[in-house]
Amino acid sequence: MSEIDSIRKKLEEKLAPARYEHTISVSFTCMALAMRYGYDLEKAELAGLLHDCAKRYDDQKIIKKCEKHGIALTDSELRSPAVIHARLGAFLAEHKFGVSDPEILSAIACHTTGKPQMGLLDKILYVADYIEPRRDKAPGLMEMRRLAFEDLDEALYQILKGTLAYLERSGHFADEMTQKAFEACEELRRNKEEALPENEERNGKEDTSADDGSKGINKNGRKGHRRKKRRKH
Ligand SMILES: [Fe+2]
Ligand SMILES: [Fe+2]
Repeated sequence: MSEIDSIRKKLEEKLAPARYEHTISVSFTCMALAMRYGYDLEKAELAGLLHDCAKRYDDQKIIKKCEKHGIALTDSELRSPAVIHARLGAFLAEHKFGVSDPEILSAIACHTTGKPQMGLLDKILYVADYIEPRRDKAPGLMEMRRLAFEDLDEALYQILKGTLAYLERSGHFADEMTQKAFEACEELRRNKEEALPENEERNGKEDTSADDGSKGINKNGRKGHRRKKRRKH
């Protein structure tokens, strides 16, 4: 049995059926994005497969397991416990599933919040988790799915922006790392726009935010606006 098959089998035994289905769907979406952006397919598949491996536990148990394994949690994370499964997931991927690749572990660890200076696999997993084909309740999905394959950084920016907007609107606490990740994306976006030739800058400056978006939490947001097409750079 291959490593991938053996991991799938273990996950199928441990995760609820819907979570397992989501897991498989994220792993294939990670591979599709890896094909598009020139990343290692097997690493992308592994990151997708293992990203929610800690979701077999509820939030309180996840916090207890973090304490047990010496995973230090910030006050901000403890106020937003839904994000913590990413931290425990990275630990389990390393210590229970034998993954040592730092890019895979990083992508799993930040898949709920993002972080400043995300690497390519971090971005692929964060976006794949939002757009995977089995997901049907996140707002602006059609637009985000299209955008993910056109401009990964822009898709990441829009999903982070929508998530923060949703959290604020619904009175939920936003983990500070999500805000930091968003600000880093915003700065990158500004720098890219400043580097554009003058005639393209006009298009780039249009704010086309999917402003009702959130990372898989909001059920009733309206669809994001269609973004003007920009030349890749
Ligand atoms: Fe997750
Ligand atoms: Fe997920």
